[in-house]
Amino acid sequence: MQAPTSRRTALTLAAAALAGLAAPAMAQDNVFKIGLVLPMTGQQATTGRQIEAAARLYMAQNGDTVAGKKVQLIVKDDTSLPDQTRRLAQELIVNDKVNVLAGMGITPSALAVAPLATQSKTPLVVMAAATSSITEASPFVVRTSFTLPQASVALADWAPKNGIKTVVSLVSDYGPGIDAEKFFNARMVNNGGKVIEALRVPMRNPDFAPFLQKVRDLKPDALFVFVPSGAGAAVMKQFSERGMDKAGIKLIGTGDVTDDDQLNDMGDGVLGVVTSHHYSAAHPSELNKKFVDAFQKANKNLRPNFMAVGGYDGMRVIYEALRSTKGAGGGEALVAAMKGQIFESPRGKIYIDAQTRDVVQDIYLRKVEKKDGQLFNVEFDVIKDVKDPGKAK
Ligand code: DHB
Repeated sequence: MQAPTSRRTALTLAAAALAGLAAPAMAQDNVFKIGLVLPMTGQQATTGRQIEAAARLYMAQNGDTVAGKKVQLIVKDDTSLPDQTRRLAQELIVNDKVNVLAGMGITPSALAVAPLATQSKTPLVVMAAATSSITEASPFVVRTSFTLPQASVALADWAPKNGIKTVVSLVSDYGPGIDAEKFFNARMVNNGGKVIEALRVPMRNPDFAPFLQKVRDLKPDALFVFVPSGAGAAVMKQFSERGMDKAGIKLIGTGDVTDDDQLNDMGDGVLGVVTSHHYSAAHPSELNKKFVDAFQKANKNLRPNFMAVGGYDGMRVIYEALRSTKGAGGGEALVAAMKGQIFESPRGKIYIDAQTRDVVQDIYLRKVEKKDGQLFNVEFDVIKDVKDPGKAK
């Protein structure tokens, strides 16, 4: 009797020891890690602040346990330098063994990480960057933001019907700006309009003054602008200071220029500016009202902008992919589960095109108006279910 009991005890102890050793690994297996790489400081810091806040709001509202896994968000600041984005993504893949990479505040960051996503088979959920070609840089890229061609063409259809026959375009000289210039200008010409000149300003620390002076001399009916999130207020200020509007030149652009993050501080000079985009904090749906309220409550009254919505919906896409793969999927299964997702976002109905992995969404025409003493992009027309025109070759 004695011996078997002690042998049993010994076996039980051995099993316990093994279980103890295995425990950290088990705990690790039960964690689902999202590596969120964003510009938290530097020129693009508002993008990082908006997306991180939105991701945290999504988790607060939806819990941090999905399919039996504990979702962990690891936020890294790339200061919007693509070499940093690449280095941080590499560390997240190799050391932290993240299940998904996400964020990507600017196009060069997304393009720097895409090859790593491919090599490591890690889904890369692009929540901000908006150059058309990004989804083609890796089969592991899924985008929840927008593309510049998608946002631009609606405005080029609106402009000639609304008294704007001649334009000058002014864009930041890199991926999204070049996309905006190409697609807006071609569509204007196609619609019988005239592009007098296409100007490009440096992406980093731009001085808009000499470019605006040139536009003033050229006297187009309108100036079409694309600048990345965060740069809009400077353009608006200089446009007003130079009396461009009084000289009869209208400012139009993609909604990046009347960014909700800054709009309310731009002053009344921005009233009446027409833009086209996929999200306005004033979008009049119940879901959006709830989103804006909850976001503001959680963030000292900060108004969510289009970056926040890209982050919020990106989290939804990741959560649903984890849920539908029952927590058992690797990178390929997760991407497969992201394709074709269709849902109501604060911006309206959206879906992830199963072929291109890019977002398909409504594009709105909006005009800056004052409501209850605050400036908003008020939607006045919509083009439904717009696919990225940059993909149609
Ligand atoms: C990109 C960055 C932005 O801030 C924006 O508003 C649009 C596009 C980009 O780098 O892709």
